[in-house]
This record gives sequence, C-alpha cells and structure tokens, in this order.
Amino acid sequence: MELLISPSVLSCDFANIQRDVEMINNSTADWFHVDVMDGVFVPNISFGFPVIAAIKKHATKPLDVHLMIEDADKYIEEFKNAGADILTVHFEACRHLHRTIQAIKAAGMKAGVALNPHTPVDLLSDVIEDLDLVLIMSVNPGFGGQKFINNAVLKVEQAKNLIHRRGSRALVEVDGGVNLETGLELVKAGADVLVAGSFVFNSKDPAATIEALKSLK
Ligand code: DX5
Ligand code: ZN
Repeated sequence: MELLISPSVLSCDFANIQRDVEMINNSTADWFHVDVMDGVFVPNISFGFPVIAAIKKHATKPLDVHLMIEDADKYIEEFKNAGADILTVHFEACRHLHRTIQAIKAAGMKAGVALNPHTPVDLLSDVIEDLDLVLIMSVNPGFGGQKFINNAVLKVEQAKNLIHRRGSRALVEVDGGVNLETGLELVKAGADVLVAGSFVFNSKDPAATIEALKSLK
C-alpha cells in the first residue's frame, strides 16, 4: 500500500489557517491531522468545533481528527457535524471503548484508537477487527515538537502483526517526532500513515517536505 501523509495542523500558523490548508490541498499530503486537546486528558488545550469546521470549509482531503479528550462519547455527533472523516479516541481515555468505536461508526466516520507510549499494542486485540486505524503515539500526547520515542518502531511491527493475524483492515498511523529519519524507520516497520507537524511547518518549503515524506520507502 502507498504511504499516506497526514500533516498536523497543530503546527500551522493559526492566523493564516486558510493559507496553510491550501498548501496542504495543493501538496501530495493525503489527510489533514487535526489535534483536539481538552486540558484534562493532556496538559494542553488546542481548539474545538469552530476551528475544525473552518478547516473543513477549505480542505479538499479527509480530516483525520485525533481526540486527546476525556468523555469523547458526548461529542461524537458534533465532531461528525464539524467535518471529521476519521475520529480517533485514546485507549486510556475510554472506559467503554467498544461502545465508543461502534458509536463513531454509526455516526458515519472511520474509527481509530490511539495508544500512549506506555500502552501495549496487545490491549487492542479484542477490538482490532472493528478498527479502521491504530494510532501509535511516538511522543506523549499534548505538544508538537517533541523528541521521537524509539519504542514506537517496535509497536508498529506489533500492530501490523496483530492486524494480519486477525484479518483486520486497520491502517497503522504514527504521530510525534516524525521526520525523514524516524519516518524511514517507521516505514520499514510497516507504518501506513505518518503524521508530521513541526517537521513540515518549520521547514522552508512545507509542500516539498510533505513530498519528501511521501517518497520514503
Ligand atoms: C501531539 C499531537 C501531534 C503533534 C505532532 O500530541 O498528537 O499530532 O502535532 O507534532 P510533531 O510532528 O511536531 O511531533
Ligand atoms: Zn495527533
């Protein structure tokens, strides 16, 4: 399968969101990675529905929404209405994960589950067949620009094995500290989707950086 790139708009210029959305539209990126933080599950607050809806208005590619929030169940419909195409919740923030996954799908979105760096891949074995996406966190969630945690490479292999063993069609996405070096290791381990925030937006030519990530093999 071709490698998918999901640039994280957390690192874009919030005073120029439309410009940065157009840059992603015109690049070889595949999705928009949209990070929602509630200041409770993670020690940071990002943005909510109005900003997602504003991105959706201009985006020509799917919105890959990564929820770092407690009580995601309360807001599933609202995320759908704001424009989410893929909705990913954190394993550590969901008491009734199976129910949450079904609710996301019933609302017409693809369902993902994210794993913090300390959470073993095996804990997904009873829901893996229901998932469209497994998101391996390669940093502790909450901030862009952190250092890549190498153990994520092993977790990508473990996730791919679990997915194959169980005949799941889930894609494996990795988020945090992705650049050309860490990206290459992840691709070799079998990653299907790479998220990149600061590496893309802090570069001189973000579209060329997206293309360089897209060409990793
Ligand atoms: C971190 C977010 C990431 C963040 C990645 O909690 O989930 O999506 O934007 O940023 P970089 O690529 O800079 O590590
Ligand atoms: Zn993210």
